[in-house]
Amino acid sequence: MLPVVFFVCAALLYAADATAGMYLNSAHGNSTYGVSRSSTGSYPRGLCANCHEQHASIGGSEPSPAGGPDGYLLFDTNFTSQTAGLCFDCHTDTSSYQVGGSIINRSYSFRAGGWTSDTLNDILEAFSYTSPGTSHNLSDISNFISGRWNYTSDSNPCAACHNPHAAQGDPPNAPNSAKSAATRGWPVSRPSLHSRDNNAWGLWGDDAGEKMSDFVGALMYQAPYRYGSTTTFEPDGSTTQDGSNLTDFATFCTDCHNPSNTIYSTTLGRNLRPIDWVTTGGESGGDKHGINGATVGIAVDPPFSPSNYGQYVLSCTDCHEPHGSPNRYLIRREVNGSLLAGTVGSGTKSLGYLCRQCHIDDNDYNGGTVNSWEYLHHLSADAPYAQMRCSRCHGSGGGGTPINCFNCHFHGSDDSWAGSSATNRRTF
Ligand code: HEC
Ligand code: HEC
Ligand code: HEC
Ligand code: HEC
Ligand code: HEC
Ligand code: HEC
Ligand code: HEC
Ligand code: HEC
Repeated sequence: MLPVVFFVCAALLYAADATAGMYLNSAHGNSTYGVSRSSTGSYPRGLCANCHEQHASIGGSEPSPAGGPDGYLLFDTNFTSQTAGLCFDCHTDTSSYQVGGSIINRSYSFRAGGWTSDTLNDILEAFSYTSPGTSHNLSDISNFISGRWNYTSDSNPCAACHNPHAAQGDPPNAPNSAKSAATRGWPVSRPSLHSRDNNAWGLWGDDAGEKMSDFVGALMYQAPYRYGSTTTFEPDGSTTQDGSNLTDFATFCTDCHNPSNTIYSTTLGRNLRPIDWVTTGGESGGDKHGINGATVGIAVDPPFSPSNYGQYVLSCTDCHEPHGSPNRYLIRREVNGSLLAGTVGSGTKSLGYLCRQCHIDDNDYNGGTVNSWEYLHHLSADAPYAQMRCSRCHGSGGGGTPINCFNCHFHGSDDSWAGSSATNRRTF
């Protein structure tokens, strides 16, 4: 602990050091809307001491919350639990230590998707979902990063993805607005590039080479529609559609979620499936929503086009929230311009509410039932299954009895569940 203490004191003394620019350009260091802990009274907005306390006291008395000394000389324990710790002390809409008592933050569906009627309004809430909802489990993240990439067991799990000295708002200081092309900022940093010296750990997404268009290379990224629109696109509501304005979240998320890492999930009670977003090779490759290409044809909704099959590569954030969601598996509530028609839980066909945001269900096909899938599996030109011996797949209820989508559709899946009727196609 001693070397860190010394380092913090030294850094606080030389606040105007060579890297002050990164901090001053961050949301926290901003002198207009940055950190200002109410109980510190005399400290100017943006000053380091709103988060770091040199002697756990100011003018002889310790500002709230009392106790400590805490790691990195922070005013509270860096990480306590899924719903408590330094970041939540300020990033909550009630009883925040930030002056005014509230910091409003939003979901990805709100900011990038443009679904501005989402009522989720703070980070504590985003990390508080319980079944069937999900939140990224902070203790699991803490365990996973500890000992990797210069993180220790004292590291804040939020700092797996955010540099507290660099993170920017996107948009900054605009709690009730979606992202806008006129005012971009960059909130995340890549875990694998983490340095124990936060001044040496840059943002991810802000520079050339760090966009989704870079990840896909000669293939295609197609930005989904903004909520309620068929003319504007994620993430910033402009007409840009090729991912050149979107952080490369495929690279970002696969720093952790890749086939080399074993990741335990307390929520799921098992190790996570590896995510292979890069291996080509058709039915022996990785996910078709990644670099690997679709087989024969696809039945997709606009702005996706069937003629580009095999070319599309998706961003993880096209389907997932980064923090939490009322759906299983962090699935977004708003995808490709509209809200999901139901909750993705454990119901037999509930996964279909997600798929139909981009793929043709029987309702899109001929006005049939919403979230029914006969067309795609039995009738389309590229349908995998002939309609015969119904009970093999539909069970004793016979043809048309819903089949659990999760039997055949998940990251890395094929349809081997169908036994002797299987096509052995990659089905994700
Ligand atoms: C697994 C990575 C990850 C972790 C862990 C994580 N975040 Fe985030 N966070 C993100 C991503 C991705 C975004 C959206 C970035 C974008 O819109 O470009 C985001 C956005 C944010 C935003 C901006 C929200 C808004 O209103 O636009 C805040 C604030 C934030 N995170 C705080 C936190 C805090 C506090 C924690 C810990 C409790 C945390 N994050 C943990 C990945 C993460
Ligand atoms: C720093 C490592 C790290 C990064 C980066 C990261 N994750 Fe995770 N993720 C984890 C860990 C650890 C778990 C297991 C704990 C849990 O279930 O939340 C997990 C779990 C998940 C789950 C399963 C949640 C559940 O309980 O059903 C999803 C979905 C997920 N991550 C998506 C993402 C997406 C999307 C991104 C990028 C925006 C991302 N992750 C970035 C570490 C990471
Ligand atoms: C002393 C209060 C305080 C603490 C503690 C704090 N923040 Fe913030 N944070 C703020 C304020 C104020 C903003 C600017 C809010 C705005 O732009 O409206 C902000 C902005 C952010 C942003 C940029 C997105 C946005 O809302 O503008 C991220 C990301 C973020 N904080 C992450 C974190 C993480 C991670 C931690 C814990 C390591 C943390 N914060 C701790 C006060 C705090
Ligand atoms: C929003 C709260 C916040 C503000 C404001 C803040 N820090 Fe930090 N700082 C943290 C957190 C959280 C950590 C621990 C990071 C981790 O868990 O990996 C940290 C770690 C550090 C460290 C040790 C790691 C490193 O980067 O070398 C130093 C030194 C430091 N801060 C100095 C400063 C200085 C100097 C300022 C002002 C220019 C400042 N901090 C402003 C939250 C903050
Ligand atoms: C087309 C939508 C979609 C995209 C794009 C997507 N996911 Fe998922 N993801 C899902 C669905 C549906 C599930 C639930 C099925 C499953 O567990 O695989 C899921 C589950 C997960 C899980 C939990 C896996 C488990 O063990 O159950 C992780 C981790 C995850 N996704 C990470 C990612 C990452 C990282 C990316 C980007 C490289 C990504 N996802 C892109 C839809 C998507
Ligand atoms: C955000 C839009 C989006 C969502 C949501 C989505 N997909 Fe896709 N899906 C696509 C696109 C685009 C392709 C084409 C990929 C390519 O060109 O290689 C595709 C391809 C596929 C393929 C490969 C088809 C083939 O012919 O090889 C399968 C299988 C698939 N999706 C299943 C699903 C399932 C199941 C869901 C729901 C869990 C889902 N998708 C959700 C956009 C989406
Ligand atoms: C090899 C497996 C397989 C066989 C055999 C099969 N089906 Fe299917 N069928 C599916 C799959 C997979 C779906 C999509 C999942 C779903 O919709 O529940 C589906 C969907 C359907 C649907 C739409 C159900 C809905 O509401 O979503 C109907 C109707 C249907 N099948 C009828 C039949 C009939 C009738 C037979 C026999 C003459 C048959 N199927 C044989 C796999 C099969
Ligand atoms: C028995 C296995 C099985 C089950 C169960 C199943 N599917 Fe499929 N599904 C497939 C196969 C095989 C394909 C074709 C993949 C290909 O084209 O290479 C497919 C394709 C798809 C596609 C993408 C088609 C395209 O080309 O655009 C979607 C979307 C989809 N299924 C949704 C669902 C939904 C929703 C459910 C649950 C209601 C479901 N599936 C249940 C096997 C299954």
